[in-house]
Amino acid sequence: MLMNNLAVQDKRRKAKGKDVFKRLGFAFCLLTFTFLTACGVRSDMQDQPRYKAYKKSEFFSDKRGSRDMVEGTIPRGQLRENKAFYTGKVDNPNPAAQAATTMDATGNTLVTSFPNAIDEFPIPVTKELVDRGQERYNIYCIVCHGPLGNGDGMIVRRGFSKPPTYNDDRLRNAPVGHFYDVISNGWGKMNGYAHVIQPADRWAIVAYIRALQVSQNPENALKTDTTKTGPGSAPPKSGDTPTGGKP
Ligand code: HEC
Repeated sequence: MLMNNLAVQDKRRKAKGKDVFKRLGFAFCLLTFTFLTACGVRSDMQDQPRYKAYKKSEFFSDKRGSRDMVEGTIPRGQLRENKAFYTGKVDNPNPAAQAATTMDATGNTLVTSFPNAIDEFPIPVTKELVDRGQERYNIYCIVCHGPLGNGDGMIVRRGFSKPPTYNDDRLRNAPVGHFYDVISNGWGKMNGYAHVIQPADRWAIVAYIRALQVSQNPENALKTDTTKTGPGSAPPKSGDTPTGGKP
């Protein structure tokens, strides 16, 4: 009985030994395969001939390895076909037409003619747009222009140049494109805000400024509709929705 048991155990041990060999063999094959594929025969992309950025080139006549973009290259999503929406200006501006400006006693640049500015909103004016504009105005403009647009914001009370009020006939009659242009490019002593306020939000602020103007001059304002929307005013395509825009 005992002998029998020992014989069985011996058999099992031998079988196990064979198993180990089998496994070693498999591991060896796997390793060889990995080595062959990992560092075997293939073209190394990291070693292919190429220029590092800004490196000199002997191939091009201007000796620059970095080539210019093909003329007319536009980053994805930046086509900006809707000129009125992105610039606040009419489609075919007259380059010779100059805005007539004068300087007032406080050094502000006053403008009275707006040859190239659009005077209708390029997007539909909705309550949401005006609300969004109010929020943006309170973040970016109220500090100087004050809560009603009278130019008496906190920074002005602390000594910064006083901006003109929105609530006089000159700016009441100014086309919406002028406000959009001022936000985008700045005006006289005021900096532009294009880097922080997206186009749709600029229009939202303009809509809110119109609302402020109406609030300060209700009888006259209601006679003329200051929030007209342009005929070709399709909402912008490129994700520039008033509430979706950054920041
Ligand atoms: C740091 C203060 C300051 C901030 C903030 C500011 N402005 Fe002004 N703004 C001024 C001053 C000063 C002027 C007058 C500039 C001049 O005529 O030289 C002005 C002028 C203007 C004008 C009048 C242009 C004209 O035809 O007379 C408009 C419209 C205007 N700002 C809109 C805005 C809007 C909208 C915002 C917010 C996005 C804003 N401003 C933020 C200081 C500011």
